[in-house]
Amino acid sequence: MSRAIVVSGIRSTGNLHLGNYFGAIQNYVVMQEEQECYFFVADYHSLTTHPDPKSLKANVFRVVAENIAAGLDPDKVALYAQSDIPEIPELYLMLNMMAYKGELEKVPTFKDKVRQQPDNVNAGLLTYPVLMAADILIHKAVKVPVGKDQEQHLEMARNFAQRFNTRYGELFPEPHVYRSNHETLKILSLDGNGKMSKSENEAATIYLCDDDATIRKKIMKAKTDAGPQEPNSVMPDYIQNLFVLLNATATPEIAAHYLAAYNNCNIRYGDLKKQLAEDLANFIRPIREQATELQQDEQSIRRILKTGAEKARDSASKTIVEARKLIGINYY
Ligand code: TRP
Repeated sequence: MSRAIVVSGIRSTGNLHLGNYFGAIQNYVVMQEEQECYFFVADYHSLTTHPDPKSLKANVFRVVAENIAAGLDPDKVALYAQSDIPEIPELYLMLNMMAYKGELEKVPTFKDKVRQQPDNVNAGLLTYPVLMAADILIHKAVKVPVGKDQEQHLEMARNFAQRFNTRYGELFPEPHVYRSNHETLKILSLDGNGKMSKSENEAATIYLCDDDATIRKKIMKAKTDAGPQEPNSVMPDYIQNLFVLLNATATPEIAAHYLAAYNNCNIRYGDLKKQLAEDLANFIRPIREQATELQQDEQSIRRILKTGAEKARDSASKTIVEARKLIGINYY
């Protein structure tokens, strides 16, 4: 079976948390065995918010270290920084000529940003979906593992690809959202307010860099209630979430024990949380330790990024040569 081309961008802001781990990284780890994967840190995208130069580099190195510790294998995938691939901004420029102000202004993520940062509505923010399209199309990717919040961006990438093909000749296949057969888990915030996400309540988010004591403290504060009043009650989502985490990290016996206690109405959430805190701490510890170790070894990270960039440029430069030729800017 031929390997499909997969591209995904990893945001360089914020620490990775359990939501990222079970929702995205585990999926990447499965895909890296089966497909031709290009995974990159979207550092150019992060410039839309004008990050401080010192923290930018530290963030990029940390994200690389955390993803590798969580299971991404730089020998199996091309793992690189977006800014190391000059062909990406070149394609971005070409695609910008086919992206219209009106459609860009209508994108919900753009409108959110306008609300969040009214003093910094820059053109990079407006053309964020065009840069994302360039990230994907530069490798002629067909599969893009992203969450629901990115589906509209992907639709725009398909539109830009199609417009290019219509105007200049067939070059880009259509990229589509990709979910591997491996089931991803949706992890909720421990305060019961929606998805576990980077920017919101930190006390209700468990990060891959949290130490054991922090994990315990956060789990012990997770939202619960007085417990089920009738046998076999439907779980409220915040209780279900604790069970999702328990199922993912504890032994099947332990998970079954607490499920039975819930169904018999004699569950003690304090006990469940203590157990969950230990299992989660055991689960996260090796990831945290490897990530810390790798982060301190800047030379290794630089080598990994360099090798990743070479692999990515191999593919990117072929596409850009073809794009230039189709457009007519091949003078020599
Ligand atoms: N926009 C994505 C996010 O916010 C990150 C991203 C940038 C991306 N370029 C991409 C994802 C290309 C997939 C493909 O999570």
